Amino acid sequence: MQIKLIPLQAHGDARGSLVALEEGNNIPFEIKRVYYMFNTKEEIRRGFHAHKQLKQVAIAVRGSCQFLLDDGSEKVEVMLNNPAEGLLIESFMWREMFNFSEDCVLMVLADQLYDESDYVRNYDDFIETCKGNS
Ligand code: TYD
Repeated sequence: MQIKLIPLQAHGDARGSLVALEEGNNIPFEIKRVYYMFNTKEEIRRGFHAHKQLKQVAIAVRGSCQFLLDDGSEKVEVMLNNPAEGLLIESFMWREMFNFSEDCVLMVLADQLYDESDYVRNYDDFIETCKGNS
């Protein structure tokens, strides 16, 4: 499985750093929704779903966390700890997030509004659909 980490140019100077996110430029889709997770307890593992259509880019804007990405045939773990790097998560990718640092702020950009019907929350259903798609 190819993990797509998008380098986000940090504009740094004596004052500090700034990253700009632009639809169709460094973010490869129309940005319709942004959400972020914070105050995540250390022992928490969350996610446990895939999306039928939704594409997302996740950025640890502060702190760190790990992703497990699973395309139905391979599982890969990725550490996010750089606010100048985005993880592209395509549709039909099972994801779990874990090992959140206490200070972690995980921001996610999405190409669709929140839609519960786009979720696949059952892992067996996810695997069955992957088999059907291949
Ligand atoms: P949930 O899907 O449980 O998050 P995770 O995938 O990390 O386990 O979402 C938590 C709650 O937030 C749930 O009640 C749905 C709500 N929510 C929204 O209202 N809008 C959103 O964009 C997202 C991602 C979640």
